[in-house]
Amino acid sequence: MTDPTSPLADLAPPIRSFASDNFAGVHPAVLEQIGRADAGHQPAYGDDIHTARCVERFNELFDADVGTRLTFNGTGANILALATLMGHLPGPHHAIVCSSWAHINIDETGAPERLLATKLIDLASDNGKITPDQLREVGHFQGNVHHVQPGIVSITQPTELGALYTPAEIKAICDTAHEMGMLVHIDGARIANATAALGGTREALRSFTIDAGVDVLSFGGTKIGAMGAEAVVFLNPAVAAGSEFLRKQVTQLSSKMRYLAAQFNGLLADDLWIELGANANGMALALHAQVADLPAIELGPAPEANSMYPFLPKEVLEPLQQWSFFWDWDESRNQVRWMAGWDTTRADVDQFVRGIRRLLEQSS
Ligand SMILES: Cc1ncc(COP(=O)(O)O)c(C=O)c1O
Repeated sequence: MTDPTSPLADLAPPIRSFASDNFAGVHPAVLEQIGRADAGHQPAYGDDIHTARCVERFNELFDADVGTRLTFNGTGANILALATLMGHLPGPHHAIVCSSWAHINIDETGAPERLLATKLIDLASDNGKITPDQLREVGHFQGNVHHVQPGIVSITQPTELGALYTPAEIKAICDTAHEMGMLVHIDGARIANATAALGGTREALRSFTIDAGVDVLSFGGTKIGAMGAEAVVFLNPAVAAGSEFLRKQVTQLSSKMRYLAAQFNGLLADDLWIELGANANGMALALHAQVADLPAIELGPAPEANSMYPFLPKEVLEPLQQWSFFWDWDESRNQVRWMAGWDTTRADVDQFVRGIRRLLEQSS
């Protein structure tokens, strides 16, 4: 609730906030496919026509026979992907290397450590990206019985700080990891945003995933218009074995799989998911451009995907947040996160900017 004495008291907040792409609703095409899948009875646990179509769609997307396993959420997708890769390593003494910002490291309540009984080796990073050199550095653990052995590298594309790896950077990580006998996972909770930013085509998607040598990918649906569906896509068929069983063990096997599949059937048709990713990125860029002339806001570079992390004057931050909610990023430095969603409109951007400008005028 906006304080009645706030300079924004008489201004309506934007209809869609800049808090999170998880705040967005479900795309109508997804709802339509769920409605269609709802007709009559269908075999359970994925033996239905909608799941078959979904699996086919992922094969078309990657132009290969990939192994697709649908899950309920992103943490579950990451756990299933990593659990399966762990099973392909020569022993339980292997660890997962990731960035210090990785969702698996700081936002999954320790699920990888608890459920996979492994250790995460988190590498220092300013923007969530890691490099082949950092990977080589952890190589000094290899062969030493006193250390866990680096077995998997997990990267996030785009990162938790909105940074993008280029296809060449991901290929270099894959080449280095594979030379070191490691396997590669991408957390692609926002893969639609990355794909849109890197060219907006299926070829663009393939360039930083299957063509780069990634073994398994968590392919996000929820943040881009699904009601709640993610896919674990095994791009390297050699490491997919066991994943059907592990999905059940990690409690991600849906009995009514058709409803998860229907969501992806809505998003993947005509590459809608890429279009929605492009919209979110475009709206983040528009917001950045519209406040770039305000010296009171330390804005940072233009967003590469759908988020930015500005520093706001304290006297503006609180009333703005009260009027249209967004998350603090680093409270001690008045740094926040603004994020656009698949459904963010120009009108939302304009209205948010109106509020920012009014608060700045009143505070000066
Ligand atoms: C980078 C990243 N990975 C994975 C997830 C998936 O999380 P959840 O388990 O909430 O679907 C998120 C969601 O915020 C995320 O930002």
